[in-house]
Amino acid sequence: MSETPRKILVTSALPYVNGSPHMGHLVEYIQTDIWVRFQKLLGNDCIYVCASDAHGTPIMLKAREQGITPEELTAGYSKEFKNDFADFNIEFDNFHTTHSPENEALVAGMFERLRETGDIYTRTIEQSYDEKEGMFLPDRFVKGTCPRCKSEDQYGDACEVCGATYSPEDLIDPVSVLSGTTPVKRESEHYFFRLSEYEDRLRDWMSHAALDKNVVAKLDEWFQAGLQDWDISRDAPYFGFRIPGTENKYFYVWLDAPVGYMASFKHLCDRTDGLEFDDYWDPDSDAEVFHFIGKDIMYFHTLFWPAVLKGSGYRQPTSVYAHGFLTVNGQKMSKSRGTFIKARTYLDNLHPAALRYYYAAKLGPTIEDIDLNLEDFVARVNSDLIGKLVNIASRCAGFINKKFDGRLTDSLPDESLFAEFAAASGTIAGHYEKREYSKAMRLVMALADKANRYIDEYKPWVMAKDEASLPDVQRVCTQGLNMFRSLMIYLSPVIPTVAEDARAFLNEDAWRWDDASEPLLGSTLQKFKPLLTRIEADQVQRMVEQSRETAPVAKEETQDDTISIDDFMKVDMRIAKIEKAEPVEGADKLLALTLDVGDSQRQVFAGIKAAYAPDALVGRHVIVVANLAPRKMRFGVSEGMVLAAGPGGEDIFLLSPDDGAKPGMRVK
Ligand code: MSP
Ligand code: ZN
Repeated sequence: MSETPRKILVTSALPYVNGSPHMGHLVEYIQTDIWVRFQKLLGNDCIYVCASDAHGTPIMLKAREQGITPEELTAGYSKEFKNDFADFNIEFDNFHTTHSPENEALVAGMFERLRETGDIYTRTIEQSYDEKEGMFLPDRFVKGTCPRCKSEDQYGDACEVCGATYSPEDLIDPVSVLSGTTPVKRESEHYFFRLSEYEDRLRDWMSHAALDKNVVAKLDEWFQAGLQDWDISRDAPYFGFRIPGTENKYFYVWLDAPVGYMASFKHLCDRTDGLEFDDYWDPDSDAEVFHFIGKDIMYFHTLFWPAVLKGSGYRQPTSVYAHGFLTVNGQKMSKSRGTFIKARTYLDNLHPAALRYYYAAKLGPTIEDIDLNLEDFVARVNSDLIGKLVNIASRCAGFINKKFDGRLTDSLPDESLFAEFAAASGTIAGHYEKREYSKAMRLVMALADKANRYIDEYKPWVMAKDEASLPDVQRVCTQGLNMFRSLMIYLSPVIPTVAEDARAFLNEDAWRWDDASEPLLGSTLQKFKPLLTRIEADQVQRMVEQSRETAPVAKEETQDDTISIDDFMKVDMRIAKIEKAEPVEGADKLLALTLDVGDSQRQVFAGIKAAYAPDALVGRHVIVVANLAPRKMRFGVSEGMVLAAGPGGEDIFLLSPDDGAKPGMRVK
């Protein structure tokens, strides 16, 4: 590239570190990583930063629940995110945390500035307060009956049944999710950001931010409704930054979270010679700044954030790129269906390149949701990456290596065919730039088809049988490998480790985008190793099974972890004798138990296979929950639950009552 490289700063949304990374998160980080890798490959000066989002009420409460500090909680999950990102080949230039000195200093500076200009002011408001817990309740922590449609058990901000939005005070019979008590109203002084006065400035920003039309439509909707001033403070107890000059008030997590983008970049600047914070964040900066986000957090990124930046004297984002949400098999990810798949569970079973490719094949620049259909995933990856792409190399590499000492010819037999591959460079680059990844993938695969047709036409495996045709074999395979190479360069932002292996095989040091347009001739190759293997359906099935079994209990169920004596008395526990114990085909962890519970026989599936051999179980007495609603599983109906203790796997210990116990006896 002859033009001067662009200076680009790219971010992905900062993940909340109170849970594990999952397939939904990965849509965003893979999408961003592909874009960044593409920019770097072009030769642009592109920096990708991210961080843990460590503040807020949910994090504070979860830490409390686990008896650890929020710092400990977030450190643990941050590590998980970092490891999983690395193993998915998502490569940040820096990954920091919002709970950092850099962030605190930047937030305090912006706050001070906005206080001076009058854009932040204080006002006393009334809010729901939980007297038992001694804290103000965020909207989501109050539940009650919808004032409009009278549906019960709705959150304090909106009704999931009729869609009404309101404040917790409007709920009929509100209760605190934390203590179950009725919240009272209490006054408190809050800090507000004067968003209502930013409409013109935001419209101005919007006019040159090149936002997707769906994002623009959303913004227009919000303008129509009228911008409201934004409450940026929270009362103690809260995990966040204390507001300077106050005793017990904190910045709301959504104020300091986006500042975390700048803080992560600042942290990088402090450790990198020649990288200047102001070059990127001054209002007259010639650098570009792009935020990749999910559609659920557009309000914060297209209203609050550009307004806060403007008001506090910084540059605004060049654009905000929003994507849709992930569905699995056409539905919301679900723990019971085993489609709430953690990043780590995927990695335990499958190659990261497969998911990166599949997401790329599905992603466009809009906020439309994308679907991970697991059957289609297997078929698509096998057909495109293995059947089309890798196949080109495996059909040519052997001949070059075995018959010609790994040497490529000095010229191409079909230069005009190669020219077609070279000419696609501009179109594919345009697609990447505009986040039209699915279009880029389609074009690359159409070219892969063409390359395979070329090889089919010449059939090197037939020619190789005839000594006289050997020179042609070398020429045809050189042509084939050059087409393969160009496509690998085009795909390297998507499947970087596979591309790296291909590059090593082709014996080259580094690739740049423009290399795809120039053939590789006369050089010697390294040994060819298979680049990727086919996905088998049972790898996916295993992943789903593991997701189903390791699924954490839904939030609402853990929030209040006591049950009443009445609840306990409802559990009908009985002595049962194991009549039969058998492995279950297709389930690694389960045994099918036939139980004698006195008056009847039951079939129960128990996840104890790693701990007990079936034969050792027959004749033993165990305790069974007899009145559990029968559950239909993939293998049959389970009619109860056998009680055991221990962390799982091999360490499971059946509760086995002493001699004298008889099937059917109640356990008290
Ligand atoms: N902490 C905030 C972002 C602060 S940015 C200054 C947050 N965190 S999150 O962990 O809930 O989400 C991180 C990103 O992942 C968001 O952009 C979100 O949209 C995206 N996704 C989370 N679940 C997703 C799907 N199921 N599908 C696609 N993207 C999803 O929001
Ligand atoms: Zn309602």
